[in-house]
Amino acid sequence: MSSSDLITRVLANKYSPNGAPSLDNFKVVSAPAPTKDSLKENQVLVRNLYLSVDPYQRGRLSGATNSFVPRYELNEPIYNFGVAVVEAATSTGIAEGDIVAVPNASWETKSVVNAGTLRKLPTGTMDNARDFVTVFGMPSFTAFVGLTTIGKPKAGETILVSSASGAVGQIVVQLAKARGLRVVGVAGSDDKVELVKSIGADAAFNYKTCGTFTEAIKQAAPEGIDIYFDNVGGEFLDATLANINTGARIVSCGMISQYNVKSADEAYGLKNTFNIVTKTATFQGILVGKYYGSPTEDEFMAEVGKLYKEGKLRYRIDETTGLENAPQAVLNLFDGKSFGKSVVKV
Ligand SMILES: NC(=O)c1ccc[n+]([C@@H]2O[C@H](COP(=O)([O-])OP(=O)(O)OC[C@H]3O[C@@H](n4cnc5c(N)ncnc54)[C@H](OP(=O)(O)O)[C@@H]3O)[C@@H](O)[C@H]2O)c1
Repeated sequence: MSSSDLITRVLANKYSPNGAPSLDNFKVVSAPAPTKDSLKENQVLVRNLYLSVDPYQRGRLSGATNSFVPRYELNEPIYNFGVAVVEAATSTGIAEGDIVAVPNASWETKSVVNAGTLRKLPTGTMDNARDFVTVFGMPSFTAFVGLTTIGKPKAGETILVSSASGAVGQIVVQLAKARGLRVVGVAGSDDKVELVKSIGADAAFNYKTCGTFTEAIKQAAPEGIDIYFDNVGGEFLDATLANINTGARIVSCGMISQYNVKSADEAYGLKNTFNIVTKTATFQGILVGKYYGSPTEDEFMAEVGKLYKEGKLRYRIDETTGLENAPQAVLNLFDGKSFGKSVVKV
C-alpha cells in the first residue's frame, strides 16, 4: 500500500474523568483511505482542511454519559467543527472542489460523510476556508450570543472579560469596544495582555502575576463591573462577584479553571454569591448550540462580517500543522500554551 492509499486518524484512546488530559487520551493511527468507488447514495468524500480545537472537547474525553455533549467513543475518531474540500460526491448539489463546513468533522485526513450534514460555503473561499472555524467559528458566535443576549451591553458600561486573548475572549473584547463600553481584559501572560490591549481593551492585567484578584479587578475597574463575561469560573469569578455593580450581568460562558480538577473536593467553592442578591445581578449560562439556525446567527454574521471586512476586527489564530500534532493542540488549551483561536491545519 503506498502512502497515498493511507489516511491519518486521531482516535479516542481512553477517558479521563478527572485531572488533566494527556497524550495518552489519544491514539494516532494510519488506516486505508476511503475511495470514490466506495461511496453510497448521498455520500461525499471530503479531504479535511482545518479542524477547530476547543475546550469543550475535554467533556467528550471525560467518558461521562450525562454531560451536555456525548462522549467520544473509544477507538473511534474524535470530531469537532471542520472545513473540508469535496473530492467526490454521489449527491446532487455538491460537487468536487466545493468547500464545505462539517459540523462533526472526524479527526482524519479524509472522510466519507452524509451530504445532508454539510453546509456548502460560497465558491472562491478556498483561500480563507479557515475563517469558518476561526473568525466565523463556534467560539466567535458564542461571544456574540453571550454578549448580546445576556450581557445586554450599553455604551459607557464596564465589561470585564476573562481569558481575553482566547477564541471567545478576543471577540468579546472587540464587540464590546465597538459598542462603546469600557473594556477590561484578563489573560495569563504579559504577551497575551499586550494583545488584549492592542485589540482595544482600555485596561488589561496578567492574573498570574497581579496579586490578589479582588484588588487587581478594583484597580483596573474602580467604577465597578457592569458585565462580567466569564470564561474561567473558580476563584476569579468569585473575586469578580465582589466587584459587581447593581444590576450587573454575569455571562457564564465557561469555567476552564475547573475542567481538570482532580476531584469534586478540589473544585473551587464560591464565597461571594450573596452579592448576586444584594446587587440584584443576573447570573446566566449559555450554550451556543441552541442558537444555530436562529436569527441571532444572521445578526452575528452581519455584525462580525462587517467589522471583519472593514479590517476592524483582529483575530489571533494559533495554528498547529499536521493532524498528528492535533492531540498536543488540545492539551495546550489547558496550560496556557495556546494563544488565540486554536485550529489544526490538516
Ligand atoms: N457555553 C458555550 O456554548 C461555550 C462555547 C465555546 C466556549 N465556551 C467556553 O468558553 C471559554 C473560552 O473558550 P475558548 O474557546 O475561547 O478557549 P480559550 O479561552 O482560547 O481557552 C484556552 C485558554 O484558557 C486559559 N486557561 C486555561 N486554563 C486556565 C485556568 N486554569 N484558569 C484560567 N484560564 C485558563 C488559557 O489562557 P491564559 O493564558 O489566559 O490562562 C488558555 O490559553 C471556555 O471555558 C469554554 O469552555 C463555552
